[in-house]
Amino acid sequence: MIDLLSGAGGPLQAWGGERLLVRPDLETGAWIVIAIHSTVLGPATGGTRMKTYPHLEAVVRDALRLSAGMTLKFAAPGLPFGGGKAVIAVPPDFPPTERPGLLRRYGEVIRELDGLFRTGPDVGTSPDDMDVIGAAAGPFVFCRTAEAGGAGDPGPYTALGVLAAIGAVCERVFGDASVLGRRIVVQGAGDVGGPVIRGLAAAGADVSFSEISDSLTRDYRAGLGVPFVDPDIALAAACDVLVPCALGGVLNSESIAGLRCAAVAGSANNQLAEDADGDRLRRRGILYAPDFVAGVGGAMAISGIEALGWTVEQAETEVAAYVRRTLHRVFDMAEAEDVSTHALTRRPGAWRRRICAAEGGGGLLRLAGYVAEVMVHLVPGVERDPAQRPLRRVEALVDHDPLPVGSEAGQHVGEHASGVGELTRHVGGVLLGVAVVLDPLFAPHQRR
Ligand code: PHE
Repeated sequence: MIDLLSGAGGPLQAWGGERLLVRPDLETGAWIVIAIHSTVLGPATGGTRMKTYPHLEAVVRDALRLSAGMTLKFAAPGLPFGGGKAVIAVPPDFPPTERPGLLRRYGEVIRELDGLFRTGPDVGTSPDDMDVIGAAAGPFVFCRTAEAGGAGDPGPYTALGVLAAIGAVCERVFGDASVLGRRIVVQGAGDVGGPVIRGLAAAGADVSFSEISDSLTRDYRAGLGVPFVDPDIALAAACDVLVPCALGGVLNSESIAGLRCAAVAGSANNQLAEDADGDRLRRRGILYAPDFVAGVGGAMAISGIEALGWTVEQAETEVAAYVRRTLHRVFDMAEAEDVSTHALTRRPGAWRRRICAAEGGGGLLRLAGYVAEVMVHLVPGVERDPAQRPLRRVEALVDHDPLPVGSEAGQHVGEHASGVGELTRHVGGVLLGVAVVLDPLFAPHQRR
């Protein structure tokens, strides 16, 4: 822990999040760690990961990194959620009989947070677990089973997004989104990898998979006749697209040197071990679909269905359309600017700035096919309605009275499509100084 606590410049500073909750579960010896990275755009939301770790520092580091990824995941499509993640680190050989009690106590911690953090399943947890957690946590739990009134397993939705991402990279690299005959290696046949493998097989891809669980391996190998690749060599398998659907950190300086694929598109969170790996992939000529876009499906669909009133069909359409559209935009821009896709999405001008903008009051503005991020500076003396965040106010204004494209203001912004324009206008007698930061990475947001 010493390392984590090291002051300025240490991992906590680099994380830049809001709160870190570390709670020992004395009954079992487990640790419950909840990292609340950002609540700027809404309640910090992210899955609950449950597994064994070598030591507490590894648990905290995982939670920090994963929570930051969730902030991006939700912010990029413009969903009203912030980023967070929970990790329950259980001792080796954790007895299943102790699981419900631990999950209940964890649920109580979530209830105490009173809406600051919302969760769903992740590696090591399921909708059944969400029922147990939810019984104690109250309404802050996504993906309960249908019997408990939830939308259930997010895996198939995540898979849908991954299939869209695979199509997008194929279209980019081979000029055709079809996976027919494409050699595709899926790493992991679990909750997401499973339906991805089935989807690819059904679409006529030459799909193979790797998996560390014997029973899952049997299901797909013998059951479905999908060729198996030894997990030790899966990353170096010759293929068109590599699809990481297991744990993070699989793309690092060593593994990237051995890759024999044209593109990577999968759902695992934090696929790159470090930022420099984005450039390593690019130097090897491998197209990388950023994980927080390719893997958004479950979080997007379920939060949409359970919290925003989407239908299942709407959720499916949204996921596929968002992933495809956003990846093409990312690929176009990365190519035009000669940077890696990872660097592009991580630079300060991208989604990140939108997250900051919301804090001081900001909103989204649709203009000339772009979605702009708007920073609003209310003139001194104009009162802020505490119940109505400035964000909402601006959105409402923009909704009812959009800036006409081609107007002086509109053109000014259009010319600065990737820069910053300064606008001022009178709205309802109140002078607003508006700094518009147009980020073409933002997908035109569909209002519902
Ligand atoms: N494991 C999901 C993810 O990483 C977490 C999640 C699922 C969150 C569904 C909310 C709803 O995206």
